[in-house]
Amino acid sequence: MILWHKKEEKYPSIYEIFEEAVKKLEEKANGYTIRNATEKDLEVVREINLKTLPENYPPYFFRDLWVKYNKAFYVAVSPDEKIVGYIMCRVEYKPGFFKHFLVKSGHVVSIAVLKEHRRKGLGYALMAYAMKSLYENYDCKETYLEVRVTNKPAITLYEKLGYKIIKVLHQYYLDGEDAYLMARPLP
Ligand code: ACO
Ligand code: ZN
Repeated sequence: MILWHKKEEKYPSIYEIFEEAVKKLEEKANGYTIRNATEKDLEVVREINLKTLPENYPPYFFRDLWVKYNKAFYVAVSPDEKIVGYIMCRVEYKPGFFKHFLVKSGHVVSIAVLKEHRRKGLGYALMAYAMKSLYENYDCKETYLEVRVTNKPAITLYEKLGYKIIKVLHQYYLDGEDAYLMARPLP
């Protein structure tokens, strides 16, 4: 079942979200920064992915996303200069969820923050930076992602960012769990 969303539906703009993200970081993550990933960061990014998610990838997968979409590939850095989170995206040309024709869509492929650094606004900020870049640097008109139906923290985060559940992808994951496909228009 596909739940089409009305054009008139209100979404918080990526600029409001970005402003909120910066404010939240100042309040809860003093000294942390978000910056674009460099090629040297990719190994640590892969380590964080292995520690935090069951969906893992070979090194060339990270490198390929970085080579093609490095402006939408960000890391979160702690006050002592350690990488503690990442987000990586892919730009796809596909039928829109909100427009009935082909659009450039920013696919959030993977995001994670190390456990000890969660609930400080870093996930929100990584998403805010990525959404802004997908729109400004890659001209994406929508953004989407898949998330495990039991992943309450992530689903709550995406809902705060204006993503809506579009449909259920049955047995999307290798272990048989379903995914929600969530999406929102940009900006
Ligand atoms: N329970 C309920 N709500 C939560 C939780 C939680 N455990 N964690 C975050 N949220 C919601 C809250 O509304 C929170 O705002 P608040 O703290 O003001 O209440 C909001 O999300 C923002 O939280 P952040 O602090 O910005 O998020 P965080 O830095 O903790 O990162 C993330 C969230 C990335 C989902 C983290 O929990 C994580 O790395 N999880 C493991 C990896 C993962 O599941 N990644 C997503 C997979 S799907 C995909 O990659 C497309
Ligand atoms: Zn995906």
